[in-house]
Amino acid sequence: FHMKKLIVGNWKMNGDLASNAALLQTLMPKITSATCTVAVCVAAPYLASVQALLSGSAMQWGAQDVSQHEVGAYTGEVSAAMLRDFSARYVIVGHSERRQYHGETDVHVALKAQRALAAGITPIVCVGETLAERELGQTEEIVKRQLAAVIHANGHCISEIVVAYEPVWAIGTGKTASPEQAQHVHAVLRAQLRAASAHADKVHILYGGSMNAANAQQLLAQADIDGGLVGGASLKTADFLSIIAAAS
Ligand code: G3H
Repeated sequence: FHMKKLIVGNWKMNGDLASNAALLQTLMPKITSATCTVAVCVAAPYLASVQALLSGSAMQWGAQDVSQHEVGAYTGEVSAAMLRDFSARYVIVGHSERRQYHGETDVHVALKAQRALAAGITPIVCVGETLAERELGQTEEIVKRQLAAVIHANGHCISEIVVAYEPVWAIGTGKTASPEQAQHVHAVLRAQLRAASAHADKVHILYGGSMNAANAQQLLAQADIDGGLVGGASLKTADFLSIIAAAS
């Protein structure tokens, strides 16, 4: 059974109207192949313009966060229904930067995943340990706890999610998990998904954390690494295209 790989660019809080358009206009004509799925997750204010640019192209788009609430008096929040209005295909939930700087807990992340699924948007659920946790030998325990919260809240829908393993110490640091380190954790996550769903093998488990043109191929060659969640390198056309080529 061969799963098409999924490469998602997470632009984080970067770019502007002009640079987004320039980046996408360069990427679009080069992303025509059906051999790998490519998406970009953009800051919410740019969803409309990215939708206009990418509609009808082979590229997908999504957001970087979603409210845990459905609708109402939640100033500053963006609902799953709002994301759906702009045909967002994906939304990242529980990125470590949200957990670290915005107080998101496993409970919030599980609710956000639920909101996304209910709106027909695929949540990209991020899990990962800090350096201190890895050094204490807690990596498996941490990622299993983070994923368990989402499995518990989403039951039979769990095969509809995407999981991203992002070791916090590898994000934006230039330090990548070795292919063996990453594969080890991916296998743990796969086993946990299999215990929860008969369709676990169709869940994409992405690796994220300083994925780049030089290391993508080896990471993507691992049995349970089904794609990448790419930060910094997704802002550079040549690097992002190399990663996509490695996944194709
Ligand atoms: O969501 C993407 C990850 O946080 C990885 O970011 O590729 O800049 O290390 P990075």
